[in-house]
Amino acid sequence: MDWKQAGHAWGERAADWAYLFEPYALRANQTLFDRLGVGEGSRLVDIACGSGYAAALAAERGAVVAGVDASEPPIAIARARTPVGDFRVGDMFSLPYPAENFDVATSFNGIWKGLEAALREAGRVVRPGGMVGMTFWGAPKRLGLLPYFMKVVELSPPDHGSATLNQGETGRPGVVESMMEEAGLEFLERDVVEVVNEFPDLDIAARALAAAGPSWPALQAVGESRFVTELKEALRNLSADGVGVRIRSELGWATARVPDA
Ligand SMILES: C[S@@+](CC[C@H](N)C(=O)[O-])C[C@H]1O[C@@H](n2cnc3c(N)ncnc32)[C@H](O)[C@@H]1O
Repeated sequence: MDWKQAGHAWGERAADWAYLFEPYALRANQTLFDRLGVGEGSRLVDIACGSGYAAALAAERGAVVAGVDASEPPIAIARARTPVGDFRVGDMFSLPYPAENFDVATSFNGIWKGLEAALREAGRVVRPGGMVGMTFWGAPKRLGLLPYFMKVVELSPPDHGSATLNQGETGRPGVVESMMEEAGLEFLERDVVEVVNEFPDLDIAARALAAAGPSWPALQAVGESRFVTELKEALRNLSADGVGVRIRSELGWATARVPDA
């Protein structure tokens, strides 16, 4: 997919993504901002910022925030969440900022193995000595969302399915370290954090997951009704009467420093 197609896949159900799904990453957002020292006056850009949930948290810490995403509808929500932020539609491989414009760049599940060029772009727009951080899915055995990803792969045309599987490679030992070094950054540290999706019932869970970009090719291929029916079945074990649906997943995170000039 080129970036405009990716933007389309993430834009069709932007409000569902923003309000039913995106807050799952809260612990990962806060952990990464802590490790990167994001606080009062930090000039931060969030790359592939989605609907700007993470950027809003950074702004609450006093950061001066910018965000870029391929999709217009989530960017409209990001602007509503943080009116003082500078949110733009654009491509992470060609960021619409001059060199050394920020103290910190982040990307939450936006940059994967194979997208090292986007990490190099992140480094370009951060000043020497500034910081870059990213998150990615953790070990498959601690990925509560695995039944979702497996269902999407099963229902998607083969090329989209393999793209989704490739994303999982990013969390393997040594991969993110090499990505950062290939991008000209000094790798600092990595660890994992647990994130949680919570939904009152399987209908809302399926609605939320249908809004994620990887669902889009599957929805096109098999239609809404079959997608929702099969997804609810795949998630049934994660649902309990009176408790709702809880999906715990591991996210990896990593930080790097932009070398001094
Ligand atoms: C998994 S979502 C993550 C969104 C947000 N960072 C979050 O944590 O919820 C991936 C995002 O990457 C964006 N995206 C995909 N390709 C892109 C590209 N080439 N340039 C900019 N954004 C892109 C999509 O529009 C989508 O919002």
